Amino acid sequence: MDKLVIEGGHRLEGEVSVSGAKNAALPLLAASLLAEGTSTFYNVPVLDDVLIMGKLLRHLGCEVEGRRRLRVEAPQRGRETPSAPYELVKTMRASVLVLGPLVARYGRARVSLPGGCAIGARPIDQHLEGLRAMGAEVTLDHGYVDVRAPRLRGAHIVLDIPTVTGCENLMMAATLAEGRTVIENAAREPEIEELASALCAMGARIRGAGTPIIEVEGVSRLEGIEHTIVADRVEAGTFLVAGALTGGDVLVRGAVLGHLDAVVAKLRGAGAEVTPEAEGLRVRARGGFSPVDITTQPYPGFPTDMQAQFMVLAAAARGQSMIKEAIFENRFMHVPELLRMGADIQIDGRVAAVRGGRPLSAAQVMATDLRASACLVLAGLIADGTTEIRRVYHLDRGYEGIEDKLRRAGGRVRRERE
Ligand code: EPU
Repeated sequence: MDKLVIEGGHRLEGEVSVSGAKNAALPLLAASLLAEGTSTFYNVPVLDDVLIMGKLLRHLGCEVEGRRRLRVEAPQRGRETPSAPYELVKTMRASVLVLGPLVARYGRARVSLPGGCAIGARPIDQHLEGLRAMGAEVTLDHGYVDVRAPRLRGAHIVLDIPTVTGCENLMMAATLAEGRTVIENAAREPEIEELASALCAMGARIRGAGTPIIEVEGVSRLEGIEHTIVADRVEAGTFLVAGALTGGDVLVRGAVLGHLDAVVAKLRGAGAEVTPEAEGLRVRARGGFSPVDITTQPYPGFPTDMQAQFMVLAAAARGQSMIKEAIFENRFMHVPELLRMGADIQIDGRVAAVRGGRPLSAAQVMATDLRASACLVLAGLIADGTTEIRRVYHLDRGYEGIEDKLRRAGGRVRRERE
């Protein structure tokens, strides 16, 4: 197992480049199951989660080739019952994204139920209710969900929660359904818009992606496409916070301002300067941060995927910040590790009160999930001394070569084998 070793106290200066978006790539790869012929994706991030999705597609009979430029060709007919096994779903919940496409294209799918995960229970009831509304027969047995529908029918679906992957699953399922599907209370994340535009390029008829009401008119077939994946907004946001925290001056190349409004507003509120440039966003700061109050929300609100990183900014600010995690019930697992580094944080249910201003001191810490790991990297960059982060495999699921990227901007970060 690898660990990251970070020598704190070095200002970041220069450029970091953002890779393609993990949470856009995963549904897009699943969508290639819907298309006849080959789909080719460019700017695919080379990440463990993407490798797992590739493995799953192969398991489902697809031909998958390449890495950063990835080609997928789905089989004409699915295996008798195309199935996403427990071994793959347990390592990556987003495997559930193949459910909608498989049922829509092949009339049947069997997917292991994702259990709880490091950040909460995360059920998929909304995915399943939506598929039921479209006429699918959904049964649960032996830890698997079995979904059958010779042909899905368009339906009017009102989501209880604007679930991101739920909405993606149903939108994909609806593309090949008979008739019109309306999804209300839809998620509005940029990844939904990107998926919809790729599906439309395949021949789907979708309107309203990016708004709370998505309408899909089913078609009888979709064709393979070529698609370039947008820059990862969470990776970009993480680098913006890194630049600010170290009192740096960093161009985050590829960052899209329109996807980061809530994050940039909070950075500016804390006292960092963020300016759009032709090639991305530049962050400059001189320390002396003001407290930041945050409540995570569905897009366009402040993203839960940036909550842990902002906790470090709150710890560095003068005064008290209140951070509320309203999306997941258990996403404060970075807090005990930050306490070990000398932060002053009290948790009461879903709210963390962060009394900032105490310098962080380097420690041996352990990553517990993807964004918690990113938070510890940021803490290491400003801590006094050398921080060691164990279980870096969590980080490798969502950040491509983070140590190389930070090092090129002056960070002292290296990977070592334990
Ligand atoms: N929920 C339900 N029922 C459902 C679906 C969701 O109760 O059927 C609940 C969840 O338990 C959670 C809330 O709804 O409390 C929102 O979850 P959502 O379904 O929107 O999350 P997700 O689709 O599983 C995606 C991202 C996450 C990101 C969330 C929220 C992907 C592959 N994953 O997950 O990304 O945190 O949306 O924005 O797109 C990450 O990248 O680190 C990550 C966890």
